[in-house]
Amino acid sequence: MASTASTMLAEDHTRRDFLYIATATVGAVGAAATLVPLIDQMNPDASTLAAGGPVDLDVSKIQQGAQVVIRWRQRPIFVFHRSQQTLAALQNAQDVALLADPNSDQMQQPPYATNWHRSLKPEFGVVVGICTHLGCIPLFYPAPSATSPVANWPGGYFCPCHGSKYDAAGRVYSGVPAPYNLPVPPYRFTSDTMIRIGENDPSAAAWNFDAIRQL
Ligand code: FES
Repeated sequence: MASTASTMLAEDHTRRDFLYIATATVGAVGAAATLVPLIDQMNPDASTLAAGGPVDLDVSKIQQGAQVVIRWRQRPIFVFHRSQQTLAALQNAQDVALLADPNSDQMQQPPYATNWHRSLKPEFGVVVGICTHLGCIPLFYPAPSATSPVANWPGGYFCPCHGSKYDAAGRVYSGVPAPYNLPVPPYRFTSDTMIRIGENDPSAAAWNFDAIRQL
């Protein structure tokens, strides 16, 4: 799959072209390779989805350390139930020093996700699963590893197309092709365990997802 991506890059396709094709190809590989359960949509009917309406998800059904992928506005949304180990890693000073935008200064998230965990609740990450380089779908490797998917892996998301690395909050590392953190979509909790993707938290009800710098 990586060779397909490299070939397309060499041919100087636009990012939009790349995104369209990469979504159809790399995404399928990513889901299979990481055994991520796919919840296509929980509640909405077809007309709601077609209109880009909100999508609800019961996060209490996601095991700690696991992730589900749902679809909102035709984009994959990663919802990750982070472990205590992962939360500690997000605050590890040595790892944070390697990030390009550790404090989420770039407009890649709503105001209520401008914090060290880039989310409303630290234990649940919610990001748009599209690499900010050329639009592949990053793969989910939550556990640190000395060897996989690359040496000294800190845990998070790896984009196999050109090697971009993101931590478990979707913060991009310095020195990789991707220029920005993974976007965070508008979302809110409608109860202790239900999230609604596509509607803002009341703390920033007017925030506009279209203002995001790089999708
Ligand atoms: S699309 Fe190039 S590194 Fe992700």
